[in-house]
Amino acid sequence: MKKIVISTGGGDAPGLNAVIYAVTKSAYQRGWEIYGSKSGYRGLLDPDELIRLTPEKVEDIMPLGGTILGSTNKGNPFAMPVENLAGEIQTLDLSDRIMRNFRRLGFFCHIAVGGDGSLEIAHRFAQEKGMPVIGVPKTIDNDLEATQRTFGFDTAVSTATEALDKLHSTAKSHDRVMVVEVMGRDSGWIALNAGISGGADVILIPEIPFDIELVCQKINDNELRDKHYAIVVVAEGAKARGMKKAVCKKNCELGRDGELLGGIGEWVAEHIRKLTGKDTRSLTLGHLQRGGSPTTFDRLLALRFGGAAVRMAELELFDHMVALKTPDMAAVPLAEAVKGRKKVEVNSDKLLTAREIGICFGDNN
Ligand code: F6P
Repeated sequence: MKKIVISTGGGDAPGLNAVIYAVTKSAYQRGWEIYGSKSGYRGLLDPDELIRLTPEKVEDIMPLGGTILGSTNKGNPFAMPVENLAGEIQTLDLSDRIMRNFRRLGFFCHIAVGGDGSLEIAHRFAQEKGMPVIGVPKTIDNDLEATQRTFGFDTAVSTATEALDKLHSTAKSHDRVMVVEVMGRDSGWIALNAGISGGADVILIPEIPFDIELVCQKINDNELRDKHYAIVVVAEGAKARGMKKAVCKKNCELGRDGELLGGIGEWVAEHIRKLTGKDTRSLTLGHLQRGGSPTTFDRLLALRFGGAAVRMAELELFDHMVALKTPDMAAVPLAEAVKGRKKVEVNSDKLLTAREIGICFGDNN
């Protein structure tokens, strides 16, 4: 009987359990045995951390957020930080141990669900160790070039939009500016989609370096139109013109006295406060955007990714990643899949519409 193993790596995204559900059910239909590796590669390092997956076991998991297998973005099996007996951190290459277990346990395929980091590791296993790997893309940021969409994004945008809807009434009641920082380290997809749908006045994204004076001008213009509040949405990777690096937590800057500065949302709020004199508050939606039940769109996409991954396993299309190429699923070589970052197109219809309805991006357009 054929045996496959599935793992989930990197930050979680709503829809991971739907992928596990689809992989388990469709592999089972083919008479295969399915195992889940806990916390990325942990199950392949220690077989006690492997879970046997059956249709009964996954029956109720599809609408659940997170991943029943657990995920991790700590450590790359090719260079894993491990504490030795003296309490020192050493870096160990565990890839051969993983490969030995993979072969000994008789797996014929590993379905690796993950973001760019996890997919790069999967590709390395395929290239350097000969592991038959199939990748499934996952990121709420929707910034993988090789696929038109990733699951988790739609849910994150819905969560952020709902938050913006709620902030309108409190901002209006207090004549305040509310600055909302959303996820998106390298791209502004969440900020753009949620900002437009949630009626933002200003959207700041990494693709368009912004001028804080222009942002303040927009807020002052609101006043002239008798609108005394404003909603500003900022992607965590957005940068003001001239800023050398993003003020985001991943990449954070230290203040003059060595203190940890907040994210870009706080930076923007602080400047709006100073330059407009408006009562301004900032909040960071953070991991709220990664939690909760996946939307119907994300469930369906995740199920389709899972189904396509099993079909690719059957065809032995290894070292490839499943990708959405509307209306179908495509197999993209992992080598290509991990290369490109999908950025917001600054001349797209979406941007144009946003500008036409009066949203400011902090630039001169
Ligand atoms: O890559 C997805 C993402 O949600 C980014 O937008 C964000 O910067 C990051 O994960 C946060 O990850 P962590 O779980 O390490 O805080």
